[in-house]
Amino acid sequence: MDFTQPRKPPTHSHNRLVLQFDYDCFYAQVHTNLNPSLAPPGTPLGIKQKNILATCNYAARARGVRKLMLVTEACKVCPELRLVDGEDLTPFRDVSKKLFGFIRGFSWCGRVERLGLDEIFMDVTDLVDHNISCLNRNGLESSFFYLSKRDPEKGFSCDLTKFAGMVEGEIPENPNYDDLGFLRLLLGSHLALYLRTRIEDDYGYTSTCGVSTNKVLSKLVGARHKPCNQTTLLALTDGDVTNFMGDLKLRSVPGIGFKMASMLESHLTGHSPPDNPHEYESKLKVGEVRESPKISPSSLEKMLSGPGAERGAGSRIWQLLHGVDPSEVKEASDVPSQISIEDTYKGLSTMPQILEELHRLSHSLLRRMKGDLLTRDDGARADAGEQRWLARPRTLRLSIRSWHNMHAQNYQRASRSGPLPNFVFDLQSDTEHLAERLVSEALLPLLRRLSSEKGPKWNLQLINICAANMVMGAAEDRSGVGRNIASMFKHQDEALRPWRVMHDGSEVDDKETGERNSRPHVPDPEETPNEVQKAQVGNSARTQRDIGGAYSPWIEYP
Ligand code: TTP
Ligand code: MG
Repeated sequence: MDFTQPRKPPTHSHNRLVLQFDYDCFYAQVHTNLNPSLAPPGTPLGIKQKNILATCNYAARARGVRKLMLVTEACKVCPELRLVDGEDLTPFRDVSKKLFGFIRGFSWCGRVERLGLDEIFMDVTDLVDHNISCLNRNGLESSFFYLSKRDPEKGFSCDLTKFAGMVEGEIPENPNYDDLGFLRLLLGSHLALYLRTRIEDDYGYTSTCGVSTNKVLSKLVGARHKPCNQTTLLALTDGDVTNFMGDLKLRSVPGIGFKMASMLESHLTGHSPPDNPHEYESKLKVGEVRESPKISPSSLEKMLSGPGAERGAGSRIWQLLHGVDPSEVKEASDVPSQISIEDTYKGLSTMPQILEELHRLSHSLLRRMKGDLLTRDDGARADAGEQRWLARPRTLRLSIRSWHNMHAQNYQRASRSGPLPNFVFDLQSDTEHLAERLVSEALLPLLRRLSSEKGPKWNLQLINICAANMVMGAAEDRSGVGRNIASMFKHQDEALRPWRVMHDGSEVDDKETGERNSRPHVPDPEETPNEVQKAQVGNSARTQRDIGGAYSPWIEYP
């Protein structure tokens, strides 16, 4: 190991303001809002998918129920737990879209990005900077926050002598109101409170928000006070940021997964890595790794090199260890990069079973495509004749996971792709009929290609069908106007990266993995990264998640 390699800390950029919203117990709130009698205040409610809880409300959490618990265990812990089935993702998707549209309406620059169904990043630097330029430093208690440049009445009153919500870090006794960084955070906290209040008052959803200068920091700090609260990271210098990061567990940093944490730990301690990193809980703190003379951008790069490794991963991890995240909040797009539907099974083994599931999934896929990719020219409710495709996916991918060796818990995942047949865009035919054709003419041939490798016996744990490789505009458009956005979304195809936050001393709060309850999951190279990240829970299926859409690219590591 070359200990002379440069360990220069990266520079933090303090000139952005990013908000990160996360709805509280999202699926539970959706069902409670749809049917308030389901869970009057104080009633514990769990949303189940197969035999696990996708989530539960805070009344249930107060009684010891946790996200991703087995339903049987949750009922033992809390016998009065009410349960609702959450297999149908449509209501969650609908609410998510509606709330996203609402929040996006406040953005000036359009940089509003959805992560999964219940998280939103929003870059509000322009809004905040405009308000700083209008600031009356002699009347801070009765300030007005302008939400529009054109309409001076559009906005809200706020008291800028204090922060809104919680603050992480020391508030100076005599704040410097000429310090732009300080002002941005101060104004950002009030904007966050205003938006959270509007989401609650107008739509009935409570949320948690983080206020900071980049995506990683706002996500990390937002998780400090949950639910129904917000936290501003008052870090005005690079030192403040590194201090904040130093005490966090390595695994709590979005972008640092099981594998990476165990790799780093064995690198630092000299112990061999655990057999199964997914079952291993690293206690390592960010500061311990960062301060180690063995760690530098180039040593990280070397450590992470391997098949499929992303170049530059070493410096990106080095940046993350310092709380530096230059990634932009992406501009919202109306078109997802891909649409995919999947379900998990205890083991589908016969052809009639598999066909039935393929048909059901195809039906959902086609319905989703119509919902997400069709537009109407006049904006009115129109019949099929007036609708047109905003974008058309070109590729159909079938992925399966089969359980090969129960004792070794050996999952094998494989996928095959082919062209998505044109008939699926026929708006005159009914979806049922199109789904049948899609199965017989496209999916079965893909399945046959998979079966030649796997042998004739199936034991399917998962089926995923995905429409990918979007081409904007109409297929009839041969003028070249239709622009292939596949390359534009090249990185965004990787939905739901390992964005997770784990609180010290509390249960795992892991959107993607359900670490404590998890069974080993061996990613295979064919897996798309979003799928690699998802939960593997108990003895049965993981929870269904919405995995369509163009979300944030994140760090790729082997
Ligand atoms: P989270 O934001 O992780 O959970 P939450 O909103 O229910 O709770 P919190 O108050 O802690 O934010 O995930 C959002 C939704 O995603 C959640 O309501 C259910 C769903 N989900 C899954 O489908 N699978 C999973 O593995 C997890 C963790 C969540
Ligand atoms: Mg949430």
